[in-house]
Amino acid sequence: MAEKTWVRMVTAQTPTNIAVIKYWGKRDETLILPVNDSISVTLDPAHLCTTTTVAVSPSFDQDRMWLNGKEISLSGGRYQNCLREIRARACEVEDKEKGIKIAKKDWEKLHLHVASYNNFPTAAGLASSAAGFACLVFALAKLMNAKEDNSELSAIARQGSGSACRSLFGGFVKWIMGKAEDGSDSLAVQLVDEKHWDELVIIIAVVSSRQKETSSTTGMRDSVETSLLLQHRAKEVVPKRIKQMEEAIKNRDFGSFAQLTCADSNQFHAVCLDTSPPIFYMNDTSHRIISCVEKWNCSAGTPQVAYTFDAGPNAVLIAHNRKAATQLMQKLLFCFPPSSDADLNSYVIGDNSILKDAG
Ligand code: ADP
Ligand code: DP6
Ligand code: CO
Repeated sequence: MAEKTWVRMVTAQTPTNIAVIKYWGKRDETLILPVNDSISVTLDPAHLCTTTTVAVSPSFDQDRMWLNGKEISLSGGRYQNCLREIRARACEVEDKEKGIKIAKKDWEKLHLHVASYNNFPTAAGLASSAAGFACLVFALAKLMNAKEDNSELSAIARQGSGSACRSLFGGFVKWIMGKAEDGSDSLAVQLVDEKHWDELVIIIAVVSSRQKETSSTTGMRDSVETSLLLQHRAKEVVPKRIKQMEEAIKNRDFGSFAQLTCADSNQFHAVCLDTSPPIFYMNDTSHRIISCVEKWNCSAGTPQVAYTFDAGPNAVLIAHNRKAATQLMQKLLFCFPPSSDADLNSYVIGDNSILKDAG
């Protein structure tokens, strides 16, 4: 008699995160171990997030995945590493209502289907890999009843994409680079939750939603191989900045926070220029946004807005409060009127943008 077939599904939603002290460079490519600590802020999932559904069924004959509706290959090492690590932690699952019982050892032979959607541009420098892998690992852990906490899961998400380890938490998050060769101590911890500094308003200025030419992975590999500035940054600059940034966040000291955030973004892009061949993630519009914010902060006497750019031209602008955010929008709309071409496409405004823990 044919076995009664069933499908067990779990859906999770995970926000993206934007680094204010950047991760750029690996000391181990396979385990994804970074050359320095980093700190990020997790964004509002209502605006930028990944939604992933994972399904398991005895009728599936292979692992498959669809990203934004298109089937992608799971053969890459990063997906395989995440799947292997979560499978190794799978526990028994019993769903009496549906009459499903999956024993621990069954997970080794059962296959998975994964469908994932990003509600923002993929591979355009808005950290889709961060939200994507964090969501995949979180959803799989729930599906397989893994008992690990979010920090332990972050060390698995890290093996999908480094920045992903920071998306398992809300608020401000630190990725500790760790020392262990097996990467077991390279994981994320929450510095403060989303309520700690909830007057901040984050505005994303989407300059281009086109896929970047140099992926973060390739870009940082080239930087590690060729940039002397990267060596100096990782050893001398970032350790000090991490301490100062933790202090600024703890004290809600916006002046220091903005100064450190902007300086770190600029140094990261300087490392990209110091790479051979040089990598250009920002464009003219990005540079004009920086000038606009710098001029305003200078004339205001104290910083009103911090800017940071990941590996792409899109600006992440962090306003001190609602008033500064309103003024910022007015300035941006004046400098980049919606009718002008080749400039800003759209804005994503996160009101009360620092949101809760993933899941
Ligand atoms: P980004 O700046 O958007 O993070 P990256 O170059 O770091 O760009 O990574 C883009 C890659 O991340 C994609 O090509 C894909 O392999 C992976 N990725 C993006 N979104 C998802 C997702 N939702 N689930 C799994 N993997 C994803
Ligand atoms: C500029 O995490 O996308 O956004 O680990 O190779 O997947 P891989 O790279 P990824 O790099 C992110 C780089 C960054 C800075 C940051 O998020 O800290
Ligand atoms: Co990425």
